[in-house]
Order: sequence, then structure tokens, then C-alpha cells
Amino acid sequence: MNKITRRTFLKTWQIAVGSIFAMMTAPTIFYWWRDQPNRPKDIENWIDLGKAKKITENEWLKRPISFEIEDRWKTKAVQEMLYIYREGRNVTILSSICPHAGCLIKTGNGGFICPCHKSFFDDKGTVIEGPSPRPLDSMEWTVKKGRLYVKYEQYRSGIKSKEVIG
Ligand code: FES
Repeated sequence: MNKITRRTFLKTWQIAVGSIFAMMTAPTIFYWWRDQPNRPKDIENWIDLGKAKKITENEWLKRPISFEIEDRWKTKAVQEMLYIYREGRNVTILSSICPHAGCLIKTGNGGFICPCHKSFFDDKGTVIEGPSPRPLDSMEWTVKKGRLYVKYEQYRSGIKSKEVIG
């Protein structure tokens, strides 16, 4: 009969504790991508941006979106552009509309440039130079069943605070 040494006992104990810890944490990690805890309840009008884990990490992704809005008596198709950045489970979604006067920004010089009046924003959307009165507008997001959703909003331009207009 094999004698249980102190070393064997400790090794078995480590494996058992490690397995229990892995079993306890794996579902938490899995469910983050499936359903983000405390996610908003009203996401049926949010825009589906696809599988969250398919979004390339650590680089800005330019992502066109399209949706329909009710414009008095007719429905109007709208196309917009968003910038998405994923770092692990953290996501940042920025509007491509310049807060100064509404021109479309583009990436460049390690950040974002507005071609109209030369506002420059760093890679986090902070204003570095130019007339923009505030940083690029970030949008609320969530993950449901592994898919990334954004609450798309437009904001009033030319003012310091972020005011939703639609
Ligand atoms: S609209 Fe962007 S700087 Fe004026």
C-alpha cells in the first residue's frame, strides 16, 4: 500500500482547491459576455453591433450603423458611423460627430481629427486643440447573450455639456 507523504497530500490539496476556484470563477467570466450584470432593461431599441468577443482588441474600429427613425409621417433611413475600442471586457464607443459644429471626425496622428475647423482629440477622445467645446461623445453600451449593443444618441453641438437631441 502506498504511503501518503506530506508532499503528495499538499499537491492533492492544491489541485482540489485550484479546481474548486476554477469552477467558481468560470461561470462568472462566461456570463459577463453572455449577459452583462446590471444591464439596462430597455435595450430593444439599442443597436446590435455583433459578437462582443469578435471585436478586435486595443485598436479603434470604425463601424457604420444604420437604423430608421420616424420623421413626421414617414420613416427615414439613417446611416451613422461609430468608433469602437475594446480592451478586455471594457468597451468605449464614440460618436463620429464633432461636438463643435457636427462635422465627421476621422482617425489620424494617433487620435481623431476634425477636418472642418481642425479640432484634434487624443486616442481617448479628449480635446487637445481646436474649437471643440467638449470631448468626443461616448455612448452607453451593454452585452446581451454575447452581443454588444449601443444606445445610439445624437448630442447638441457647440455647447460644453453633453445634451441629447435624439
Ligand atoms: S466642426 Fe469640428 S472643429 Fe468645427
